[in-house]
Amino acid sequence: MANHQNHQNHPLTNGHNLSQVVVVMVPLPAQGHLNQLLHLSRLVSTYDIPVHYIAAATHNRQAKLRVHGWNPNSSTNIHFHDISVPPFPCPPPDPTAATNFPSHILPMIYATHHLRDPVREFLSELSSKARRVIVIYDSCMAAVVQDVACIQNAEAYPFHSVSAFATFLYLWEEMGKPLEEEAKRYIPDDVPSLEGCFTDDFLDFVFEQYQFKSIISGSLLNANWAIEKLYIELMERILPDKKSWAIGPFNPVELSEKKAPNDRHICLDWLDKQAPKSVIYVSFGTTIALTDKKIEELALGLEQSNQKFIWVLREADKGDVFGEVTKIELPKGYEERVRNIGIVVRDWAPQLEILGHPSTGGFLSHCGWNSCMESITMGVPIGAWPFHSDQPRNTVLITKVLKVGTVVRDWSRRDEVAVAATVAEGVKKLMASEEGNETRKRAEELGRAVRRSVAEGGGSRVEFDSFIAHITRS
Ligand SMILES: *[C@@H]1O[C@H](CO)[C@@H](O)[C@H](O)[C@H]1NC(C)=O
Ligand SMILES: *[C@@H]1O[C@H](CO)[C@@H](O)[C@H](O)[C@H]1NC(C)=O
Repeated sequence: MANHQNHQNHPLTNGHNLSQVVVVMVPLPAQGHLNQLLHLSRLVSTYDIPVHYIAAATHNRQAKLRVHGWNPNSSTNIHFHDISVPPFPCPPPDPTAATNFPSHILPMIYATHHLRDPVREFLSELSSKARRVIVIYDSCMAAVVQDVACIQNAEAYPFHSVSAFATFLYLWEEMGKPLEEEAKRYIPDDVPSLEGCFTDDFLDFVFEQYQFKSIISGSLLNANWAIEKLYIELMERILPDKKSWAIGPFNPVELSEKKAPNDRHICLDWLDKQAPKSVIYVSFGTTIALTDKKIEELALGLEQSNQKFIWVLREADKGDVFGEVTKIELPKGYEERVRNIGIVVRDWAPQLEILGHPSTGGFLSHCGWNSCMESITMGVPIGAWPFHSDQPRNTVLITKVLKVGTVVRDWSRRDEVAVAATVAEGVKKLMASEEGNETRKRAEELGRAVRRSVAEGGGSRVEFDSFIAHITRS
């Protein structure tokens, strides 16, 4: 990684007065979405373009507190705007619900409609001070930014927070499968349907966003040519009239920022003492709630695998993450018993640093797109265990198309409890088998290709420069 420079040191200075163009980010306020747009804010701001990040105060606080790999306080070009919204209900997650989709955060998602008026006012104020206002919004927030249509010097760019593979499949199915013969050659036969992935309420919310398609000037993807060339190309072919830019990964690919020793998470000190590539990192993100029985089997499975592990065990996020958090109990004596092979982390874990650590050799993951991108960037193979949304399809991309992961838990068995033996077998396959070793080798190669792509002259950098040139055009 030594010679690779990040986007950050390369502002594009091609004669425009860039200060006249400003970017406004409007995230969907769930962690995986807040995080991606905050990382993107950093990348855009390094081109000397002021960025305004707009969300409810609690969500701005959450995004800043949890971001890893850089410090948002150190950027003078990113401005956070706290919008006050009326209180919304924040029920706890329900691990016994019919699907694993986090419906308990829907009241928070619906509360985003309160952002529409403040966002419109903010945009019209900015529009009189800037040559052009570029609104980058989560594709689920079209209704919030719809008034862009009335602001003459504003342009809107939805950002798709999932893989190009998943985005392509959604669009392709919605459009009635154009280019069917050809597309099918690149789509594995058994891509799962959307059954069990979402709740109807959430799909209704997503469909409501489709009516604002006319505001779109072009689309952004947290995708990378080295990872998803086929699907980025297919998407550009089915949407020929709109520009799209694949500018991922948004997360930093190098972790250069030095931390004071007392600022370093204790799990990193533990990792320092382990053998290279010997540890599996286990985390199912911020939206997944498991029953006690499922947690117990997972705990026993990790123990039986006899592989070193770091397990992040936290309650799924509520609509507001700063309330009371319930501690998840483990079988009595468990943590003491596994002391020599693993640690359980209950607070916010430095995922990017863990994945970038030389002792980490695998990631047991729900396959949310942030996690996939971070793991691929760091060259770490994935043990896939999908739960909802785009995760089952990301699993196909990771395990069948890219072959940088293996399936630990099959999506088709989502309604059953995964017993300890299944977990142990899946973990051993990834961490201690010839197939696991081959998978790891491919993951390392792909990681190198992705890191090269964001360096000077790399594919992702060229694409990013092209997006910046487009929004700053005279
Ligand atoms: C950023 O600034 C806030 C407010 O001053 C502070 O509470 C927080 O700890 C800072 N974060 C970091 C990572 O330095
Ligand atoms: C996997 O690779 C490691 C490190 O190169 C090696 O020690 C181990 O024996 C390999 N395991 C198998 C089953 O091939």
